Amino acid sequence: MARRKIIAGNWKMNKTPSEAVALVNELKPLVACDDVDVVFCVPAIDIIPVMEAAKGSNIQVGAENMYYEESGAYTGEISPAMLTDVGVKYVVLGHSERREYFAETNETVNKKVLKAFEHGITPIMCCGETLDQREQGVTIDFIRQQIKVGLQNVTADQAKTMVIAYEPIWAIGTGKVATTEQAQEVCAAIRACVGEIYDEATAQAIRIQYGGSVSAASAPELFAQNDIDGGLVGGAALKPDFGKIVNYK
Ligand code: 13P
Repeated sequence: MARRKIIAGNWKMNKTPSEAVALVNELKPLVACDDVDVVFCVPAIDIIPVMEAAKGSNIQVGAENMYYEESGAYTGEISPAMLTDVGVKYVVLGHSERREYFAETNETVNKKVLKAFEHGITPIMCCGETLDQREQGVTIDFIRQQIKVGLQNVTADQAKTMVIAYEPIWAIGTGKVATTEQAQEVCAAIRACVGEIYDEATAQAIRIQYGGSVSAASAPELFAQNDIDGGLVGGAALKPDFGKIVNYK
């Protein structure tokens, strides 16, 4: 069974609520497409206005992070129920920027993945190596560990519905896109790892994105690879170019 592509924008810490509405209005006609899932993952304060602006379009709205507790004394955090209450369906978890600047670990990412599933939110779980790790030849080992710990106690049925984003850290925001071969190689290794943890059916169902300087120019070749089921797009998701990435065919 062919996997449906999923092309998501990660806005990171960009766009005030009013800027966000203007951007959605600009992108709405450009990202119209029946063949792929289109998700805008936006800052928490932009979620509600973006949902309103996206009404009636094919744009689904996701969050960029979420905490793993239900509620309580966690100043500054966003709970899963806060997200589902306004209709959020996806959440980016374990982005390398959260790991680097906010001390997220494979263990906290795993707690968040489990909590997202408890609330019916689809995790987009990120993984990816540093340039040092690539040069040391430990890319696949490092990513297998991220995947194996991130998926602890996740059932096969849950894993089948989730998304893994492979984002080599050295390719994020650098304009330095991984070669198609590099991206395909790691995405295939991630799928094989999922097959080892669960079974072949789960490996074939899970969707794996590539992220890291995806552009309108690089998207068609990347998304044509066997194990790449779409992209997680940073900078280019804030521009009309995102329409070309979504309609890459
Ligand atoms: P860029 O597309 O800006 O490199 O960002 C990638 C990314 O981190 C998406 O999550």
